[in-house]
Amino acid sequence: MSKIIAPKGTHDIYMPEIEKWHFLEKVTREHFQAYFYSEIRTPIFERAELFQRGIGRETEVVQKEMYQFEDRAQRKMVLRPENTASVVRSAIENNLFNTFYPLRFFYMGPMFRYDKPQKGRYRQFHQLGVEIFGEESSFLDAEVISVAFSLLNKCGLNNLNLEINSVGCKECRPSYLSVLSKEADKNREDFCKNCQRKVDTNPLRIFDCKIEKCKEIASDLPKINDNLCDSCDENFEGLKESLFYFGVDFKINPMLVRGLDYYTKTAFEITSNQLGAQNALLGGGRYANLVEELGGPKISGIGFAAGMERIILHLKELELLRDKRIFIVLQKPELLNEGITLCQQLRERGFVVLMDYKSKGIGKQLKKAEKANCDIALIIGEEEISSGLLSIKKLRTHNQLQVKRKEIFKILKEQI
Ligand code: HAM
Repeated sequence: MSKIIAPKGTHDIYMPEIEKWHFLEKVTREHFQAYFYSEIRTPIFERAELFQRGIGRETEVVQKEMYQFEDRAQRKMVLRPENTASVVRSAIENNLFNTFYPLRFFYMGPMFRYDKPQKGRYRQFHQLGVEIFGEESSFLDAEVISVAFSLLNKCGLNNLNLEINSVGCKECRPSYLSVLSKEADKNREDFCKNCQRKVDTNPLRIFDCKIEKCKEIASDLPKINDNLCDSCDENFEGLKESLFYFGVDFKINPMLVRGLDYYTKTAFEITSNQLGAQNALLGGGRYANLVEELGGPKISGIGFAAGMERIILHLKELELLRDKRIFIVLQKPELLNEGITLCQQLRERGFVVLMDYKSKGIGKQLKKAEKANCDIALIIGEEEISSGLLSIKKLRTHNQLQVKRKEIFKILKEQI
């Protein structure tokens, strides 16, 4: 019979890699909570219209990457390609803008994009991210960037590059777009088919194109940050100053326009030199109109999302984080009762314990203990029982010592 395999661009996560996920999830939760973010969980599928309206019909994500399907009632649904639009939808639907304070949310979960899989790029991937609503201040923008930066640092990721830009607003972007479209039109023939269309429909999206020739032409096109209105200009200056307060180094990248249409003013990305082609660890920015465009109040938002797989690829072996594991080894099957009792007592005290109920031969049990990556084997023998003792064998160093049964919990706590 033919084997059933996982869909392309997805992967199963299990030991030992799952430990890195647990570590990342724990650090993320604690980090975000310190900044007053509360968790929000939204469905992994939404109405297609949410993303078409939210992130823009001309974006690569909506044009080429959405997993779209009709449900049994012929409604067009999408596996969420990102979570910002979903969080905004949820906040509007649940009236959170009027009832919640502070409007600071974080999330973690799977997203779906039909993209060409490669290292660091998957069809089901996970994002961790935040969205804040209400306040419009360059200090808040800088705080959000600094939250992102310090989270990556907490995960042991250094050598990061932060790039920032301003992508303008409703006031200054239309005139810039018409200049951009005119200039891009002069090179129309040299662009790829997709960019040729974008010249008329959404020229800003030309900067997202990954094709070398298009990138080359785009580098000579007028840039948004040379065409900002006074308010955006002031805001961008404020951002640069505020980042200094938060002690975050940055580079200005005038080509950085992010791949989603909702951004206004601040846009940023953090990349790593160690990731190869898929080097963006996270990206985000401000979105002043998205809430209103999706039917909510006039309220501005800012946030970012990071690719969890990409962070995981950077995480070193987490030796220290692993729970120390204990394997109970029985000299004889008759000692099973004693073994089960000890096993349960240890688990109730928070130790991670395994035993083999068939327990045939000490050697075999020790092999299983090693295979299960245990740190310690606790050996129960007949003689030891009669003298109230147990043997502790450290499986990494092969050191062995005898301890009093009644002191075992205290001693293990010291050892572990
Ligand atoms: P994004 O730049 O599309 O932004 O995605 C954020 C991060 O998700 C990327 O920097 C990357 O690390 C990861 N990512 C994206 N696509 C893939 C993929 N196919 N495989 C693996 N990782 C991937 C957003 O999604 C916005 N919602 C961020 C945001 C939040 N802006 C404001 N608030």
